Amino acid sequence: MSTATQLIHSIPVDPLTGAISVPIYQTSTFVQEAPGVNKGYDYARTGNPTRAVLEQLIAQLEKGAVGIAFASGLAAIDAIVKLLKSGDEILAVDDIYGGAFRLFTNVYDKFGIKVNFVDTSDVENVFNAITPNTKLIWLETPTNPTLKISDIEAIAKVAKASDCLLCVDNTFASPVLQQPIPLGADIVIHSATKYLGGHSDLIAGLVVTKEKELGDKIKYIQNACGAILAPFDSWLVIRGIETLHLRVKQHCASAQIVAEFLEQHPAVDKVFYPGLKTHPNHAIAKKQSKGFGGIVSFTLKEDTEEAAVQFVTQTQLFKLAESLGGIKSLVSHPANMTHKSIPAEKRRAAGVQDSLVRLSIGLEDAEDLVADLEQAFRKVVGQATNNGGILSNIETVLENNFTNQ
Ligand SMILES: Cc1ncc(COP(=O)(O)O)c(C=O)c1O
Repeated sequence: MSTATQLIHSIPVDPLTGAISVPIYQTSTFVQEAPGVNKGYDYARTGNPTRAVLEQLIAQLEKGAVGIAFASGLAAIDAIVKLLKSGDEILAVDDIYGGAFRLFTNVYDKFGIKVNFVDTSDVENVFNAITPNTKLIWLETPTNPTLKISDIEAIAKVAKASDCLLCVDNTFASPVLQQPIPLGADIVIHSATKYLGGHSDLIAGLVVTKEKELGDKIKYIQNACGAILAPFDSWLVIRGIETLHLRVKQHCASAQIVAEFLEQHPAVDKVFYPGLKTHPNHAIAKKQSKGFGGIVSFTLKEDTEEAAVQFVTQTQLFKLAESLGGIKSLVSHPANMTHKSIPAEKRRAAGVQDSLVRLSIGLEDAEDLVADLEQAFRKVVGQATNNGGILSNIETVLENNFTNQ
C-alpha cells in the first residue's frame, strides 16, 4: 500500500457513530461509573479522544511508539528540555530556530542547563563537541533559515556511542519527506503550526518518541505542566494531515523552480535550497529525504538589512509574515523577524546574513510566484532578467522533482 493511502486510512472512522471525520470532544471532564472506573478518560488535560487520535496518527507517521500533542511547537521543545537536570548540556545545531535559541539560553540557562552550538552539518563537529555532560543532541535538518542539512544516521550513531538522546526538529521536512526515527533518532518534534496544519490557522506542537518508556515520561510532563493541544486544534491538525502528502509534493516542486530562478538572478548572491546540486549537503539530503521541502532562502548582492527590507515589502503574492508551511506563500526577513532574539554576531556566524530573505513556497502556480519575485527585484534593484528559460522548464521539474518516494 502506498504511503498516501496508508496516511489517509490511518485516520480512524469514529467507532461509536461511524462519523468519517474525527469527532471533536469539546469537554473538560468525563463521567465515571465509580471513582477510577471510566471509559479511558477522566480529565481532558490528561487525555482527550480527539487529541488521542492525533497523537496516535503522528506516532504512526513518524514510525515511533508514542505521540504527544502540545499547545505549540515551543511547548513541545520545552517538554523535551524538561527531561534534563541541572548540570546537563545540550549540543545544538548553530543555525537554530530563534525561539529554540531563546528558550535554551534565556530560560534554561538559569536552571543550570548549558547549550553548545555547533555546525552539525559536519558530523565531526558533533563528535568533537560532545562532553561527558552532553545529554541531548538537538538537530534541525533542514535548518531555519539557511537550510543546512545534517546527517541524521551518522549523528545518531555518535549520540548512541555517547549515551545521549538525539532529538530532530522535523518541522521543515515533515514525515512525508523524512522520518528521523528509523534513521536512529530517539525523539522527533514538530511545530505542527507549519506543514502538518498546513493552512496557517493554528498553533500546535507534536512530539514522537522511538521508545514507549521515553514517551511515557514526556506524557507525564505534558500532564504535569499542562501545555496540551485543545480538541478543536487537534482536529484542525488531523484535517491538515489528510492532505499533507499532496501539499508537500507541490511545495517541493515549486520550491525547486523558485530556487533555480533565484540561482541565476543577477541581484542574488547565494541561494540556500537542499534540492540544488550546489548545496554542500545535497547528497545527504537526497539520501535521507524523499524531497527537498518548500523553503528557499537567499541573500542579496547588496548585503544590507535595508535592501532586504525593501525587497520583502515589494512582493505581492508572497505575504510578509512570520511562519511557513501554509498554502499561501510567505516572505520573511529573519534578521528582523524570527531570528531577532539571536545576537547579530551569533546570527551572522551561523550564516544568517543581514540581507537573507526566507521564502515559504505556497500552493500558488510556480510561474506566478517567479513573476512576483521578478517584479519585486525590478522595483528594488531595477535588474530585470529574462526568466523564459526557467518558466519553460516548469513542467519537466514538476514531473522529475518528486520521483524517489
Ligand atoms: C523549526 C521550528 N521549530 C519550532 C518552532 C516553534 O513552533 P511554534 O511557533 O509552533 O511554537 C518553529 C517556529 O517557527 C520552527 O520554525
